[in-house]
Amino acid sequence: MAAFNEQLAERIDRYIESLFVPDDAVLASNLKNADAAGLPPIQVSANQGKLLYLLVRMTGARRVLEIGTLGGYSTTWMGRALPAGGRLISLEFEPRHAKVARENLAAAGLDGVVEVRVGDAAASLTAMVESGEPPFDFIFIDADKSGYPKYLDLALGLSRPGTVIIADNVLRNGGVLEENPADANDRGARAYNAAVAAHPRLESVALPILKGKIDGITISIVK
Ligand code: SAH
Ligand code: DHB
Ligand code: MG
Repeated sequence: MAAFNEQLAERIDRYIESLFVPDDAVLASNLKNADAAGLPPIQVSANQGKLLYLLVRMTGARRVLEIGTLGGYSTTWMGRALPAGGRLISLEFEPRHAKVARENLAAAGLDGVVEVRVGDAAASLTAMVESGEPPFDFIFIDADKSGYPKYLDLALGLSRPGTVIIADNVLRNGGVLEENPADANDRGARAYNAAVAAHPRLESVALPILKGKIDGITISIVK
């Protein structure tokens, strides 16, 4: 990929964080517990967590769906943005991850707000569509990238006009620029971006996000 000054990107990311993301004991212990349990450190950055928090606040979302929980770090940011009576359902394949997430969410005081559902996200989403789950206001897609196109289709079945759908890791340090990426995650992210761009029910844009490398989110609103 093209040369990029990762050191400068890292410094800018830390500058933003120092301004807008105060130290937070609950979030710090969330990351510490996830690390101690051997979970991979692949959660959203602090700045991105703040962005998700603001987007949930700005949309006035009351029902949030997350696909890919890990240790519940992004979940905590979004859960904290909900009004009283709000609800967040987060889907996770690995029981080990879900266990850490549930402990972290309880420590964050969000155990009455968030439900972590264990299983393959496509199966959980299909079951939700079939059981007539009411639409969500805000959907965050962040599980296996090769599954993104099918998660999009299923997420649309759980949406209403105005639902915001956000997908993480859609630029992958330029990995999505290749026409036919060798990496399955790059391929999934590229297919996702193409699908939302062409979708008649969606208006969208992708937003680069610095984390040392360049990654980003795709933001869509359902028409
Ligand atoms: N959203 C989290 C990070 C999620 S990492 C945060 O920012 O804090 C991606 C997660 O997706 C991992 O925990 C992984 O186990 C989970 N995952 C991978 N494949 C999945 C699948 N098919 N269904 C549900 N979850 C899956
Ligand atoms: C990685 C980062 C992510 O945000 C994610 O959802 C999955 C993997 C990574 O850096 O490998
Ligand atoms: Mg991610």
